[in-house]
Amino acid sequence: MAGVFNTFLLTGMLLCGVLLQTLSQNRARVDKRPNFIIILADDIGWGDLDTNQVDRKANNTPYLNLMAEQGLRLTDFHSPASTCSPSRAAILTGRYGLRNGVTHNFAVRSVAGLPLSEVTMPRLLQQSGYYTAMIGKWHLGHNGPYSPTNRGFDDYLGIPYSNDMGCTDKPGYNFPQCLPCDSSVPQVIRFKRRIHEGCYSSVGLPLFENSSIVEQPLDLWTLTERYTSAATRIIHNARERGQPYLLYMALAHMHVPLAPPVPPDARRTGDGSVYGASLREMDSLVGAVKSASDDVDQNNTLIWFTGDNGPWEKKCQYAGSVGPFVGKWQTSRGGGSAKRTTWEGGHRVPTVAYWPGKIPANTTNSALLSGMDIFPTLLSLAGVSPPTDRHYDGIDATNVLLRGKQTGHEFLFHPNSGAAGTFGDLQTVRTGKHKAFYITGAAESCGGATGTQQLHDPPLIFDLEHDEAEETPLDTGTPEYRALADRIGRRREELLWDIATDTSVSIGDYSADESAVPCCDPTQAACRCHPPGRAWELPGSHKD
Ligand SMILES: *[C@@H]1O[C@H](CO)[C@@H](O)[C@H](O)[C@H]1NC(C)=O
Ligand SMILES: *[C@@H]1O[C@H](CO)[C@@H](O)[C@H](O)[C@H]1NC(C)=O
Ligand SMILES: *[C@@H]1O[C@H](CO)[C@@H](O)[C@H](O)[C@H]1NC(C)=O
Repeated sequence: MAGVFNTFLLTGMLLCGVLLQTLSQNRARVDKRPNFIIILADDIGWGDLDTNQVDRKANNTPYLNLMAEQGLRLTDFHSPASTCSPSRAAILTGRYGLRNGVTHNFAVRSVAGLPLSEVTMPRLLQQSGYYTAMIGKWHLGHNGPYSPTNRGFDDYLGIPYSNDMGCTDKPGYNFPQCLPCDSSVPQVIRFKRRIHEGCYSSVGLPLFENSSIVEQPLDLWTLTERYTSAATRIIHNARERGQPYLLYMALAHMHVPLAPPVPPDARRTGDGSVYGASLREMDSLVGAVKSASDDVDQNNTLIWFTGDNGPWEKKCQYAGSVGPFVGKWQTSRGGGSAKRTTWEGGHRVPTVAYWPGKIPANTTNSALLSGMDIFPTLLSLAGVSPPTDRHYDGIDATNVLLRGKQTGHEFLFHPNSGAAGTFGDLQTVRTGKHKAFYITGAAESCGGATGTQQLHDPPLIFDLEHDEAEETPLDTGTPEYRALADRIGRRREELLWDIATDTSVSIGDYSADESAVPCCDPTQAACRCHPPGRAWELPGSHKD
């Protein structure tokens, strides 16, 4: 009996072994799901991409031009908000800020971040077997459970918020120019004197690896090199691991301070300018990432380049170009019409998608799309279903990317982002070629004009096909206008009702506290890591 039993057991174990082996072979064979590289530029203008310019005079983005020639240029693609944190939160959750709780920017002292009840795209991909890495600016909360490695990323290298939210020893170009970190006074005494003319002077800009500060203040001038080598390492390691991967690269470019490699003449504009040199540096970084990806798994990797919002106009010669989307109705009344506003310059961003053999080469598509669409599109391509307990606002753009379909959003809402109205409110609506404003406002322009906020009832409606500069609103007296305004108004009511009754809505927490400041060593001036390079863990970063 015992012998039979043992034989049975042995057979069982063998079978089991065979089965396990087959499973792992299947897994290795089957998991040829595509890799994803999302490259998000900061404060980039629609006109900064050479191929978006009608005259194509500039030659600042040769690698991106090539990527567009080998892939697809999306010409009516919009960042989900006109400022940083809300845009990033919407990209990673596929939801408007009114649902995901992130309606304005987090600060250096922010205790919390993207609400923990939100489910992120990297988390869903990670759970389904992807290796998930992030390089660059997070800006969705830097403490404990809010940090990237606790929100779905296996690996992280980058800065917790914008590159101007901390001092450095060798400041980059900014307007007004900021001073280097003061190294004479310990941090504990300096906490009170924080912002000097828009410059954050008291806390050094930290560089994180996973949940540790590895450098503070970081060296702005070598950041691009570090990002490039980290990206190359991640892409090459992914092949050895045999896992599909997501790499989310949230670049420091084109946000001030700019720190281009060759010291250009700061007074010039155009190709010899600081901005032009930085643009070319960013473009080379994109080229290096593309080349690493082409070497490793060329026809199985989607690269999607886009921006988080339009140019920061008040930075004058250090701000990008909105191209033809100048928002004339607003600028003729004073103030800027890019970042922080819902004028086209605030959210229409240069966008290129590249996937050889899958995305038809040298094509453009003017489907109305949003950064929120990255979430459902990637999940769909990876065969992952998002949780069904919540509403999403992004749409699956697979047919646009792979099959040239024109199926974009029927309605797309642009949330207020600081220039007018309440943060996050959806008072600007796009449908087809029309765009309606229930409220208008301007950001600070180069020169300091700010304009005034105005409510519009009936709404201002522009025809973007004939008036991309948003100069002259439609006559409100025509039957066409009334039909259009009714249709837009109804849809807006429906969406607001849907959000008001949405039980999955998250509430953002914007409370701030000194103890939340990422600080390598509070006894040192500017929180400097002492000795430099010592790794330091944020309190609570072990929490999962
Ligand atoms: C970050 O985490 C990843 C994944 O666990 C690991 O491979 C990498 O070495 C970590 N980096 C550091 C600096 O600890
Ligand atoms: C990728 O696809 C392109 C276009 O279909 C083809 O020319 C190229 O040889 C492929 N590359 C690899 C590595 O298979
Ligand atoms: C891409 O398209 C443009 C315009 O249609 C054309 O002039 C150019 O030669 C094309 N490039 C390639 C590589 O086919």
